[in-house]
Amino acid sequence: MLGRIEIPESFPVVGDISGGRVVLTGAGRGLGELLAHAFSRAGAKVALVARTQRDISSVAAELPGPTLLFCGDVTVAEFNEAVADATASEWGGIDVWICNAGISPIVAGPLDTPPEDWREVIDVNLTGAFLGARAAARVMGDGGRLIFTGSVLGERPGKGLAAYSASKAGLVGMTKALALDLAPSGITVNVVAPGWFDSPLAEGWKSNHRLSESIREHTALKRWGQPADLVGAYLFLASDAAAFLTGAVVNVDGGYLLV
Ligand SMILES: NC(=O)c1ccc[n+]([C@@H]2O[C@H](COP(=O)([O-])OP(=O)(O)OC[C@H]3O[C@@H](n4cnc5c(N)ncnc54)[C@H](OP(=O)(O)O)[C@@H]3O)[C@@H](O)[C@H]2O)c1
Repeated sequence: MLGRIEIPESFPVVGDISGGRVVLTGAGRGLGELLAHAFSRAGAKVALVARTQRDISSVAAELPGPTLLFCGDVTVAEFNEAVADATASEWGGIDVWICNAGISPIVAGPLDTPPEDWREVIDVNLTGAFLGARAAARVMGDGGRLIFTGSVLGERPGKGLAAYSASKAGLVGMTKALALDLAPSGITVNVVAPGWFDSPLAEGWKSNHRLSESIREHTALKRWGQPADLVGAYLFLASDAAAFLTGAVVNVDGGYLLV
């Protein structure tokens, strides 16, 4: 007869991040602003990072919990290190670092993509995330959570999106490698890959009726993502309930990759 599984006294509460110290890049608008609200309302302290001071100040003004504000560019290694040091010194450490800052400035074929545009997308979306992860890992010490915002376009590229798709596919490879590197330190590393959500970044697609409809048609659940659809994956990955989950890609896409 097989033995019975040992039932624990209690289970970690999914998404419980109360008291957690969270660094969130790209927090000035769009999905980052949404995540800032979700984490703050869940009881976390949130350090908000973006280049536009006005944006992060107005996000901070609406959050119920403690915040720190860091105005700067995630592509600059020293800036990431300074965010890590200042947050750790103010709050005594960092539990979660969410690399969410991203750009998608071009929709063009290779001949119409200037090399500097290619480099900028890779620099912000991929190198910026690596530099954040590097700074986070240094101060997290023993245990922590790294979460990257990827995209379904990293797994199924779109026409005219070579740079963006490459940057998001790169995040997946980087996540798996970092998950191995940082496992001995108890740091988990995962990607959340959103499908299509209303945000300033997706405005060009949403406002184009033909494109917007084709995205809807291409999504198994037949709709665009709504704000409330996204935050659960991040809260789950940040919480103790996800302690054994690392190197994974969580697609929050309404089944976009299935159709
Ligand atoms: N919206 C969607 O449907 C969707 C779908 C899949 C994936 N995503 C991904 O989700 C993430 C957020 O996208 P979003 O739609 O919320 O975009 P968004 O509305 O344009 O917001 C992007 C945020 O990132 C910040 N940012 C950009 N470059 C930065 C840099 N170099 N250094 C620091 N901060 C920087 C921006 O602020 P500043 O410009 O002031 O710096 C802004 O706060 C991105 O990684 C994007 O690729 C979005």
